[in-house]
Amino acid sequence: MSHRQLSAAGLEVAFGRREVLRGADLEVPRGKRLALLGANGSGKTTLLRTLAGSVRPEGGVVLVDGAPVRFDRKGLRAHRQVVQLVAQDPDDQLFAADVYRDVSFGPLNLGLSDAEVRRRVAEALQLLSIEDLAERPIHELSHGQRKRVAIAGALAMAPCVLLLDEPTAGLDPQGVDEMVAALERLLVARTTVVIATHDVDFALWWADSVAVVVDGRLRHGSTTDLLADADLVAAARLRLPTALQAAAELGLEPTGIRDVSGLVAAVRSAASRVEGVA
Ligand SMILES: Nc1ncnc2c1ncn2[C@@H]1O[C@H](COP(=O)(O)OP(=O)(O)O)[C@@H](O)[C@H]1O
Ligand SMILES: [Mg+2]
Repeated sequence: MSHRQLSAAGLEVAFGRREVLRGADLEVPRGKRLALLGANGSGKTTLLRTLAGSVRPEGGVVLVDGAPVRFDRKGLRAHRQVVQLVAQDPDDQLFAADVYRDVSFGPLNLGLSDAEVRRRVAEALQLLSIEDLAERPIHELSHGQRKRVAIAGALAMAPCVLLLDEPTAGLDPQGVDEMVAALERLLVARTTVVIATHDVDFALWWADSVAVVVDGRLRHGSTTDLLADADLVAAARLRLPTALQAAAELGLEPTGIRDVSGLVAAVRSAASRVEGVA
């Protein structure tokens, strides 16, 4: 999948008098994983929908390779081949009777040959490890399986950028592991992945960089720098990731700590330095 540059400048979106985005700027790093973080109601879903072309901003622009997205039929059709959004609730997206038909719907609509549609569906099902579900009726699947089918449907459109709204919400620990493994394979396939979440522990561990929604604007930067910033995290109505909170309380530098194992390694290394000095 080629790497197109998705960005946004000065986005303004309001619902009635509620101003959700108030001049949001974002440059999505190509071929990388970006976590979009914010409290419930901060505007993550609104931002993803705007980036995907489903919400038209009152101000600002969404850009692909520097060119503004046009909100007419043709413009949006072209945009959907670059950017695909997977909604938080798979039931908002899945409507065909079985998995194969659902995942093939988008590619068929593009007018691709039967062979190309079959190839794309097979590849998408394989990336999500759901080949064995191809013939299954959607209504028989678990929530986690339906979430993966919804992602496969988006992937079959061969987008450069995949926007996922809370892909791990509502999954049990095994479901989260399966989802994360599938996301890893996407990166190997060089798709840019943006995940909206309020799970700071997941973001610390997963993301190459994070964009935090604060008062309708975005702060984008290094995962550890932003997530270790207690003032920023409080302003965004989030909390410090557990591993970084523990590091702060132990007086350790957050650099390189992405999860509990990283914290343990930092503690051991600090302890061995103390022993070396003694
Ligand atoms: N279609 C809509 N109509 C009216 N208000 C909306 C709509 N979509 C979102 N909102 C409001 O916009 C704010 C941001 O919502 P949302 O983008 O869903 O936040 P998040 O995904 O971060 O939880 C909330 O106050 C929500 O109630
Ligand atoms: Mg949301």
